[in-house]
Amino acid sequence: ENIDKGEYEHFMLKEIHEQPVTVQETFRGRVAMDESKIFLGGISDVMPKLLEAKRIVIVACGTSWHAGLVGEYLFEKYARIPVEVEYASEFRYRDPIIFDNDLIIAISQSGETADTLAAIRKVKDSRATILGICNVAGSSISRETHAGVYTHAGIEIGVASTKAFTSQITVLTMMALLLGHKKQILSTEEYQKLIHELTLVPDKIREVLAIEDQIEKIAATYKDASNALYMGRGALFPVALEGALKLKEISYIHAEGYPAAEMKHGPIALIDEKMPVFALALNDNNYEKMISNIQEVKARKGKVIAVVTKGDKAVKSMADHVIEIPEAHEAIAPMISIIPLQILAYHIALMRGCNVDQPRNLAKSVTVE
Ligand code: G6P
Repeated sequence: ENIDKGEYEHFMLKEIHEQPVTVQETFRGRVAMDESKIFLGGISDVMPKLLEAKRIVIVACGTSWHAGLVGEYLFEKYARIPVEVEYASEFRYRDPIIFDNDLIIAISQSGETADTLAAIRKVKDSRATILGICNVAGSSISRETHAGVYTHAGIEIGVASTKAFTSQITVLTMMALLLGHKKQILSTEEYQKLIHELTLVPDKIREVLAIEDQIEKIAATYKDASNALYMGRGALFPVALEGALKLKEISYIHAEGYPAAEMKHGPIALIDEKMPVFALALNDNNYEKMISNIQEVKARKGKVIAVVTKGDKAVKSMADHVIEIPEAHEAIAPMISIIPLQILAYHIALMRGCNVDQPRNLAKSVTVE
């Protein structure tokens, strides 16, 4: 595999820019050319068990855990399966109740994270079906699961995960749509429409990458912040968590992600004219609610940087900065809206003189407890 930085200054930037291709690699050969169906060879043998599943338990750490939270929305909405998303490090030391018809999904870029591996070992004697969503073929987690789907994002070097995240969500989307259709929750028409949306992701990511200069300017404005808040609703809440994680891990700015409505239960007390608040305010079902949340921040003099849908007017009139992303169906919106937050964290870290690819105290793969 090609592991040099090519034209890029850092692996993280290269990996951010690879995402149109890596997402495509994730669905290549799995989505029929005519977009009429999804085929996931790695889980076809266990499909009867998957269709019987009454519950999904996702175990993961870090960015992979955030992908799991996006998966929760996808499985609930499109396959109507209840989901629990667990920190592998907590799950392994609990006394979890596992049913025979549970489906356990371990998500791990490296496939070697000690806590995630321990979490699946914890349930190996149960009768639940255990799947892996890993990036590294032949990794420990992929070997110790019953079946799985590789993300095929290619080797990821930057400690802050970027392309692995969008590929994990791509796999989760394919799984949710496939199960939803097989369970007859999604009509063939809805299924094909959603598959088509998925195939639009690479081009929509390209459109966001094309406005990197504009995002870099916003980064320059906030590079000296000491704190930052990220807020979103629905499946964009995990995107807020992931945006905050990117910023803190590479720029060392304290950042927190919140479901927007929870702001009033604490974080809003932190808001003053020095606090940047990154708001995910796309034109989805939560749009009006997000507008109120943005007003609450502005009323306390916070600085609002909003990720909005192209052509937005209402948020633009309130926010200090907007980042316009292409119109995206709610099923794919997390994959598109994380891109500006990755770019923003990268440029802020760079301007602060941080070691973007190898942040202090962090490891790419945490194979010890
Ligand atoms: C480390 C990495 C993160 C990653 C997490 C889980 O903390 O720095 O980028 O999300 O481990 O890793 P995994 O390989 O299991 O996805």
